[in-house]
Amino acid sequence: MKIHILSVGENIYSTQRLVDEAENRGHHVRVINHTKCSVKLGKGRPQIIFEGRNIINDPDVIIPRIGASVSRHGAAIVKEFEMNGVFSTARSLGILRAQNKVRTLQIMNRKNIPIPQTVFSINPRNIDEQIELLGGPPVIIKLQEGTQGLGVILAESKKSAKSIMDTFYNMNTSIMLQEFVEESNGEDIRAIVVGRKVVAAMKRKGEKGEFRSNIHRGGTGESVQLSEKEKKIALRATQYLSLPVAGVDMIRSQRGPLLIEVNASPGFQGIEAFTKVNVAAHVIKLLETNVRQKFQKRTRRNSRK
Ligand SMILES: Nc1ncnc2c1ncn2[C@@H]1O[C@H](COP(=O)(O)OP(=O)(O)O)[C@@H](O)[C@H]1O
Ligand SMILES: [Mg+2]
Repeated sequence: MKIHILSVGENIYSTQRLVDEAENRGHHVRVINHTKCSVKLGKGRPQIIFEGRNIINDPDVIIPRIGASVSRHGAAIVKEFEMNGVFSTARSLGILRAQNKVRTLQIMNRKNIPIPQTVFSINPRNIDEQIELLGGPPVIIKLQEGTQGLGVILAESKKSAKSIMDTFYNMNTSIMLQEFVEESNGEDIRAIVVGRKVVAAMKRKGEKGEFRSNIHRGGTGESVQLSEKEKKIALRATQYLSLPVAGVDMIRSQRGPLLIEVNASPGFQGIEAFTKVNVAAHVIKLLETNVRQKFQKRTRRNSRK
């Protein structure tokens, strides 16, 4: 199988793990820096040019590992491969849906997946109303496209919520408001879905006094057993977003698990270390299954001719 990993660098842990597992299993793998790809459309067949060559027909499958800052271009490259019939561990549509927390939560809410109470608006004059819609402070203010816990703020009073929101509105930064689920206790759950299965799950806990559990903010993780409900939420979420491989984040509240976000390129370092699951191998096996099925379908079709 010819696998292309779309990633900005071979030295990134998750990319390196995928390369190693793919090679262990006898596949031909190449890391393509999607930020250095150009696409040519118009007359003739579409082309994806990388290092001076058209690579659109090269891979059997692709694994996008697209960072938040270049996701629009990355998703466009994935789309071009998809339209050429290549299987991707993340559909371009899914990458764009997961990139924005409001977009994700809109879809989850529509599908009756439990989420924290959430409000969004761009009207600086109705800040009071927004806070009241959540039952008053404390509230969480989040950048719609933040990552690694950096755009998540806890405002304990109406006064601080107002000044923070004013600032973001002034900077034209898209934000949203959320009820503060205090009982989650600085912890969250990360479930890794590969295909139709949750292959690994960990509980992350923030540093002392920190409500954000992100490893990048000093949090630590441990393996955790998910409830049936949590498993179902994780599987349904990835299905609705069109992401065969994804990390689903949930917090545990008094009214049960609540989905907070989905990551289209979940990191492997923490989850593999804390759970001892070989997540990268699961991803490669998913690709093998997919290519096998496609091949079987094709031979069946040809033998009917
Ligand atoms: N509504 C909330 N109530 C309580 N804690 C929250 C809430 N939303 C997020 N958190 C905490 O903050 C962390 C980061 O929030 P998240 O929405 O996942 O943003 P990011 O994309 O930056 O990781 C979560 O892992 C969780 O620990
Ligand atoms: Mg998160």
